[in-house]
Amino acid sequence: MPNDRKVLVTSALPYANGPIHIGHLVEYIQTDIYVRYQRLRGRACYYLCADDTHGTPIMLKAQAEGVSPEQLIGRVATEHLRDFTDFGISFDRFGSTHSDENRVLSEHFYGRLKAGGHIAVRAIEQAFDPVKQLFLPDRFIRGECPRCHAADQYGDSCEACGATYAPTDLINPVSALSGATPVTRSSEHYFFKLGDFADRLKTFTTSDALPKEAGHKLAEWLTEGLSDWDISRDAPYFGFEIPGAPGKYFYVWLDAPVGYIATFWQLRSRLEERALSLDDVRAQWSQYEIHHFIGKDILNFHGLFWPAMLEAADFARPAAIHVHGFLTVNGKKMSKSRGTFITARRYLDALPAEYLRYYFAAKLNSGIEDIDLNLEDFRARINADLVGKLINIASRSAQLLAKHLDNTLGDVLPDAPLYAEFLKASETVEACYEACEYSRAVKTIMDLADRANRYVDEARPWEIARAPERRANLQAVCTETLNLFCVLIAYLKPILPETTAKVEAWIGGPELNFESIKTPRLSHAIKPYTHLMRRIEPADLAPLIDNAQEASATPSSSSAATPGKPAPPTAGKAGAATLSAEDFARVDLRVARVVAADYVEGADKLLKLSLDLNEGRTRTVFAGIRHAYAPADLVGRLVVCVANLKPRKMRFGVSEGMVLAASDSDGLVVLEPGEGARPGMTIR
Ligand code: MSP
Ligand code: ZN
Repeated sequence: MPNDRKVLVTSALPYANGPIHIGHLVEYIQTDIYVRYQRLRGRACYYLCADDTHGTPIMLKAQAEGVSPEQLIGRVATEHLRDFTDFGISFDRFGSTHSDENRVLSEHFYGRLKAGGHIAVRAIEQAFDPVKQLFLPDRFIRGECPRCHAADQYGDSCEACGATYAPTDLINPVSALSGATPVTRSSEHYFFKLGDFADRLKTFTTSDALPKEAGHKLAEWLTEGLSDWDISRDAPYFGFEIPGAPGKYFYVWLDAPVGYIATFWQLRSRLEERALSLDDVRAQWSQYEIHHFIGKDILNFHGLFWPAMLEAADFARPAAIHVHGFLTVNGKKMSKSRGTFITARRYLDALPAEYLRYYFAAKLNSGIEDIDLNLEDFRARINADLVGKLINIASRSAQLLAKHLDNTLGDVLPDAPLYAEFLKASETVEACYEACEYSRAVKTIMDLADRANRYVDEARPWEIARAPERRANLQAVCTETLNLFCVLIAYLKPILPETTAKVEAWIGGPELNFESIKTPRLSHAIKPYTHLMRRIEPADLAPLIDNAQEASATPSSSSAATPGKPAPPTAGKAGAATLSAEDFARVDLRVARVVAADYVEGADKLLKLSLDLNEGRTRTVFAGIRHAYAPADLVGRLVVCVANLKPRKMRFGVSEGMVLAASDSDGLVVLEPGEGARPGMTIR
């Protein structure tokens, strides 16, 4: 491929209502490796991303925290950027969809859709929360499944039987926000008539812009026929108001992908130090080969809706959409209750970022299969590949060079053909990076690392070192070895930027890349070796999993369990005090509904719950369950409450009860009364 390519690369914009987690990082690491490879090849390459800041969940989260949405997204942006930076993610710009540029562009896109006759307006009926006074997204409605009658299911699908349905089909639906019964209300909505673009989308989705599997999936949707896409939401909503439609807002997914272009606009303005016009932006955007990296869950937005929008607004379409699968941890979906919802920060507090970069690279290819982070495999792989094979090559020679050779490399490579063989592999390695077949790149490089270790084993430099008259020979072997090592590091540079920088500082000379390695480093003084990487010990992995035992169900019960230690045996087991039936009868257990749940500032284990026990007021209970549940997971649910516990004064307020939960070393679940239970019922 010609070297004058101009490449513009994006990762999907993370939602601003939660922390970056290692699932996200599959994507940001995958993209960053691609970007670093492009730059290493000397291509003009921009990497753009932004926070996706609009929508109901963000509005509600800000309300729950008692801050404005702007404050919330400001704080989250700082946190996100810090996480990305610490993982070596090398954005040229990280923007926000809540920007002037994005507003201008979103309005422009909408204007073009409308002018082209692609917008339909009609009234639809939706669930409305009469207490909160807002239309409820499906996820915020809970009720009984119309098919299997499981209690407390989401408004769009049943977790018990897998049925999907409309929220209006739920039996006894309640708003997850207020607990109130939703009413049906009609309002006008704006629709994008996607069907107008069916033919052009067919061409696009069968082009090589998309991986084959993804193309097939999209083709299925296309044959089923494209329904109109609802792009408006009613106030209150955090987003951009639709011009000429007071009280109507662009649905978050309308302005989110536009954020790619808005961020490009911001970057170009900064680089050119002038205000670019929208037409400048359109023209410049078309000069780039555009690559979107996304997860398989958002394929329809990027493979159908977005290309149609670009077409309508006369903006260039992406050259490629790279789609990856989902991350599982130890074979299962990441889950808060299993403690495997590993945030970026939790990982960084435990281990170096590059270990995860390497592990993901070793598993990623251009397909959309899910990838698994098995923690034991992770430890074994890092220790074997990076520490055992790769770094071992350098550290062995480094000691000899320091001790016997004054840290100076010799003037010839004793095995030039071997070095040439290493250089030859760059064709394969480069092709793999270009095609996002990172696992094959890693395999190729690790095979070379084996070869380098074999060279050292056969040359036996530690034996040569014992004979002072063979210094020249020793120097030759070490020179060969370190040059082989430099080739490997240059190949791994997109994956291990930090280690590469350390090696560059140690060895000196021109920076390592596909070009510079063609000239071996000879007659050259290197700096004293400093440690490059350490092994992962079993103890390093423990903090990655959020151990449920750290917090028992409520603070009031925390006296029963020492943090990090299993709870004492329960009644009946040896050593525990027994309880008479009368004693137990004194415990007043009641069914309660969670009507509100919030984080507690300054308490990282607690959630503050408002419980309805049907006693004419709500009770406040602080529960140590934050590691297992987000507030929104709990609102609307039924729980079991100890109703006659002595109120307990805490730093954050008075706790008037206790919520029962079950836990073991793998997680914690709040106990739920079965079907037919109502707030206030006594449990016996
Ligand atoms: N805000 C939207 C994207 C808008 S793009 C115009 C969104 N945000 S997200 O935070 O939910 O996800 C961001 C990216 O991370 C998506 O591409 C998503 O597929 C990816 N991942 C989120 N969780 C993931 C895993 N567990 N595993 C792999 N990728 C995952 O979607
Ligand atoms: Zn069901």
